Amino acid sequence: MPRLPPSVFWRARREISPMAAQLLPACRDLESAANELRWIRQHVRDTRSPIPPELRIWKLVEKRGRGVPLQYVLGTQPFGDLEIKCKPGVLIPRPETEAYTLYLASLLCKDQALSTTPPPSLSILDLCTGTACIPLLLLHALQRYPSLSQTSLYAHGIDISRHAVRLARLNQAHNNHLLSAPSSSSISNHVDNNPKLNFTQASIFSPNLLPILQSHSPQWDVLTCNPPYISASGFRRDTARAVRNYEPRLALIPDAQLAGLASQCKCQPEDVFYARVLEMAAVLQPRRVVLEVGGWAQALRVVDMLSEELMALYRTVEIWRDEPGAGEGRKREVVEFGGREVRVRGEGMGRVVYLYQGTEEGG
Ligand SMILES: C[S@@+](CC[C@H](N)C(=O)[O-])C[C@H]1O[C@@H](n2cnc3c(N)ncnc32)[C@H](O)[C@@H]1O
Repeated sequence: MPRLPPSVFWRARREISPMAAQLLPACRDLESAANELRWIRQHVRDTRSPIPPELRIWKLVEKRGRGVPLQYVLGTQPFGDLEIKCKPGVLIPRPETEAYTLYLASLLCKDQALSTTPPPSLSILDLCTGTACIPLLLLHALQRYPSLSQTSLYAHGIDISRHAVRLARLNQAHNNHLLSAPSSSSISNHVDNNPKLNFTQASIFSPNLLPILQSHSPQWDVLTCNPPYISASGFRRDTARAVRNYEPRLALIPDAQLAGLASQCKCQPEDVFYARVLEMAAVLQPRRVVLEVGGWAQALRVVDMLSEELMALYRTVEIWRDEPGAGEGRKREVVEFGGREVRVRGEGMGRVVYLYQGTEEGG
């Protein structure tokens, strides 16, 4: 990262404020420093504290200037219509995760719109749930859709981290007002279909977990998972300093204790969660599986991990890029893989491997 010349600091002091200059090492340019200073001031205005406002602003600016991610400084990150609370120890939700979660919601809604009878229930299992950003946004998006007004929506989030599960519950309460079904008088026979959401603290590798999930009735419709997927060398080489210094390793790199399992599965250590989640998918057989991946090469490795059984179960296998909904109407992008056609959607880097028991949706 290039060093900033002193002239930029002088301009920040002169044209914005000395506090903007303090933000520059983290923000890197004047426009971002001015924006972040505005957000910090707004945050202090909107939240109560016995500490005098100017002192709070200074403290927050100092923290951010040291490189602490803005989301940990302000304590929140917008995610679709939701505001997700963020705390050190739990991964900050990313915009790419938001993009595919909304895309998935649009597919689920389209599916329901095409069916003549709405399903009585729709249940989502989110593994490695973190802040619970994925199930919360899915439930919020789905319960606003008229053709699902008679469908009871349920989601279950699982995470090994006590901090994550606690924050997930906090986020559920924080966004509760956005999770109740719209009280529209135009919806006839309106039933209470406010979505339900639960969390469990557990490792997805725990042998006790799968039988419990298997006994869930009705069957899971959707399985989502954004697991730790970065290699130890990729973590050192490719991640931003703020990520390395402030975000939890547990959320980013598969635990070294799982390395033995990776060699058993004949996969790379950073892919070991996919081996487990695919094993779970083969047992639970959700109609859709959505796995976040860290780029094109990992997406192809995950497709390569699909067993013959899974290949037979999931008639549609797709790779979604960062913005899966972008570039629709453009020429179809397809890769041939293991004698199978894999549709590639959207623009950006490879971000998701998508499995669907039905035939291809969305044209
Ligand atoms: C990449 S983060 C994803 C968080 C969230 N779903 C999101 O998209 O922002 C991965 C999450 O997996 C959790 N995790 C790590 N090892 C786990 C395990 N063995 N079982 C369940 N969760 C695990 C971490 O605590 C972390 O919250």
